[in-house]
Amino acid sequence: MVARPMSKEFLPFTRPSIDDATIAGVAEVLRSGWITSGPQVKAFEAELSKLFGGRPVRAFNSGTITLEVGLRLAGVGPGDEVITTPLSWVATANVVQEVGARPVFVDVDPRTRNIDLGEVEKAVTNRTKAIIPVDLAGLPVDRDRLYAVAGKSKLRIIEDAAQSIGASWGGRLIGSFGDLVSFSFHANKNITTAEGGALVLPSEELVPLCEKLRFQGVTRSGEDGMEVDVLGGKANLTDLAARIGLGQLPHLNEFTARRRELARRYFSLWDRTLGCELPPEDFENSNWHMFQVVLPARAERAVFIRRMREAGIGIGVHYPAMHLFALYRALGWRAGQFPHAERIGRSIATLPLFPAMKDDDVDRVCKAAREALK
Ligand SMILES: Cc1ncc(COP(=O)(O)O)c(C=O)c1O
Repeated sequence: MVARPMSKEFLPFTRPSIDDATIAGVAEVLRSGWITSGPQVKAFEAELSKLFGGRPVRAFNSGTITLEVGLRLAGVGPGDEVITTPLSWVATANVVQEVGARPVFVDVDPRTRNIDLGEVEKAVTNRTKAIIPVDLAGLPVDRDRLYAVAGKSKLRIIEDAAQSIGASWGGRLIGSFGDLVSFSFHANKNITTAEGGALVLPSEELVPLCEKLRFQGVTRSGEDGMEVDVLGGKANLTDLAARIGLGQLPHLNEFTARRRELARRYFSLWDRTLGCELPPEDFENSNWHMFQVVLPARAERAVFIRRMREAGIGIGVHYPAMHLFALYRALGWRAGQFPHAERIGRSIATLPLFPAMKDDDVDRVCKAAREALK
């Protein structure tokens, strides 16, 4: 295939911003002789805990394992049901199966694209143990209503806040309140460690079990004591990754502010006659992890993606409705059960949005989208 000449550099839908001090910091860790979990992880956990109002936080090597450990800490296991959204990264439901429980999907609210809490209430059975809400694109699920629904049926909540670091609800930062809260630091996220995650715990008492589940079930004591009394995994973060995170955290507010500015620009420049559904204009709570539009029914998403790529612009797909994946169809889930999630999953498109983007990059995306969709 012959590469088409492009007038400008390719604009991906996301790109991490890593400063020179962080790169130098990682080199220092490499030279230090201690590159796996150590002082950098401890410092990263301490900074995260400070951010979340002093709550206990433990770092992991992914935001998938943090969800799984969250479920285990909540006592979710075989025979239990966990209610979640079909419109998320498949990790959200896979972890429910990992612990031997059954994921129960309910539809999303077509405006927020997040789980419909009215549908959650209807799906509760005597086997329901927990809810995993997902803050899609960094727009938080209504925490007041979520905790009211959970409280009524004594359900645990494992917040899948993979995308919502820096977002808030009612003026409180996501992670600084609530039950178990899970973050991802995958390269696409607003704060990254390349790969990684963090779990915020509702009480100090859970720390020893959390640490055991993270690392082979091991408890050390004295100079040479070691005991293993639970089956733990191997999910510790490296110091190299933690040092990236330590270099990222001081930029959190600035990154979020820049994302908000770019989102505002999308709202002001986007051609409303194209018939796309824009996200809710939430400049209070959302961290603008993604700016996603739902294409009109007449548009074929694959054609849109190709045309945008030809114009030098990357478009993401987050996410196809996961109950339609073969793995979930095998559990009995079918097309037609969640019409909002299915329609959105077919037509959602993630536009470029990351802190280093220029204002005129947004102009370029809006112009190319107009041409691609007309
Ligand atoms: C909503 C959601 N849940 C879970 C995850 C899993 O995180 P990770 O990729 O760090 O395992 C991600 C990120 O990829 C995500 O976006």
